[in-house]
Amino acid sequence: MKLLLEINDLGVVYKGRGRRTDKVALDGVSVSIQAGETLGLVGESGSGKSTLGSCVLGLVQPAQGAVIFDGQDITRASGKVRRELSTQIQAVFQDPYSSFNPHRTIEQSVGESLTSVPRLSRGELRSRVVSMLERVGLDRTALPKFPPQFSGGQRQRIAIARALLPEPRLVVCDESVSALDLSVQAQVLNLLLELQRELGVAYLFITHDLAVVRHMSNQIAVLEHGTLVEHGDAIGVTDFPTQPYTRRLLRASPQSDPDVQDARRRTRRAIAGLSGASAAGPVSGVDILRALESQAVAESMAETSAIDTTVFETALTRLEAEPVDSARVVELRAAIPEMAARTRFDGIPDSARSAADTARLDLCAELTRNGRTEGFADRCRALSSAIKSGDRERAMDLVAVLDDSDDSAPIRQGSSRGQRE
Ligand SMILES: Nc1ncnc2c1ncn2[C@@H]1O[C@H](COP(=O)(O)OP(=O)(O)O)[C@@H](O)[C@H]1O
Ligand SMILES: [Mg+2]
Repeated sequence: MKLLLEINDLGVVYKGRGRRTDKVALDGVSVSIQAGETLGLVGESGSGKSTLGSCVLGLVQPAQGAVIFDGQDITRASGKVRRELSTQIQAVFQDPYSSFNPHRTIEQSVGESLTSVPRLSRGELRSRVVSMLERVGLDRTALPKFPPQFSGGQRQRIAIARALLPEPRLVVCDESVSALDLSVQAQVLNLLLELQRELGVAYLFITHDLAVVRHMSNQIAVLEHGTLVEHGDAIGVTDFPTQPYTRRLLRASPQSDPDVQDARRRTRRAIAGLSGASAAGPVSGVDILRALESQAVAESMAETSAIDTTVFETALTRLEAEPVDSARVVELRAAIPEMAARTRFDGIPDSARSAADTARLDLCAELTRNGRTEGFADRCRALSSAIKSGDRERAMDLVAVLDDSDDSAPIRQGSSRGQRE
């Protein structure tokens, strides 16, 4: 892996005008992005996300720290260097309506990101624009049209085509899907992932929505009031958040992540099947889901626990009585952590916690099969068994090393899968 972008100890202060005091927007933030990978940058509105993106793009000058791109210090790059960099660092912003000049055709708008490349004939430029438009799901009939003739989702596709046309190595995506409907969001996110696989481009993916970044990112950094409060592997940060602030963000997150939506649907099906198939007990699986949902809502509204946990304790006991290899059980277990993550960890009964744990292990196994390193999965397993045995200290230690990129030294102790039965 190759380091593409390094941000060291970045500090930004917006000078107050007149009577207004200075605003510290970023304070001592250090993050990095590997070539071809995605760093998700999350935090509430006003936490400094866009400011960080603007420093990378050279739109804001930091008061301290450095931005290093491909080994080159670009913190205070001159206009000339910036113009050269513009083919390597591109951006896709939130608003698909204001990011295009309505009086320029799609051909002109998309092609403008290549105008700094000398000796490109009009014919060559057009054919590159067309092939890029095709990649984002449009075609040459779009060339003579104007932005207002397209929907929000289509315009965001055009914005992505414009950004990727020069084959940049880094794209700053600042709330790029936040203005879109959930179903359109999912399509655009998948498009970005597809293009990343094809082109090897890296993303600085900025959003206030933690569910979206999990789907998109290798690493996640969480900003609160301009400081970095949590930083690590995407699965680690979203499954084992160490900060209350991160957990709050998770709970507040609408379900726009297509994986999560899908897991939800599967859960509902699995739960419905479970309650229909078994004659034992009055508790329906749907009640568990309802209980978890209302818990999540109650917590995010009032920060209080107002739930009868016996509902899903009973249901989970029944769940455990099902044959383990039943596909329904596997599906249901896999969906529990997603629901549980949005409620306060302490509010979940032990039986649910261990079911969630089992599901995490399955998830880890799946990640390993999909090319993630064994070391990471081992650390997750060790963490699960530490949580299970109530060893809080060890669990905290393991959380700290969960994102350790040195996968050559996996933690073996207490990591055997058999142990969890
Ligand atoms: N140009 C500016 N002048 C003064 N303050 C600014 C400016 N831009 C942003 N801020 C302030 O800096 C903080 C961080 O803003 P921003 O980076 O836009 O946050 P985010 O993108 O996370 O919502 C906010 O308090 C915001 O009001
Ligand atoms: Mg912003």
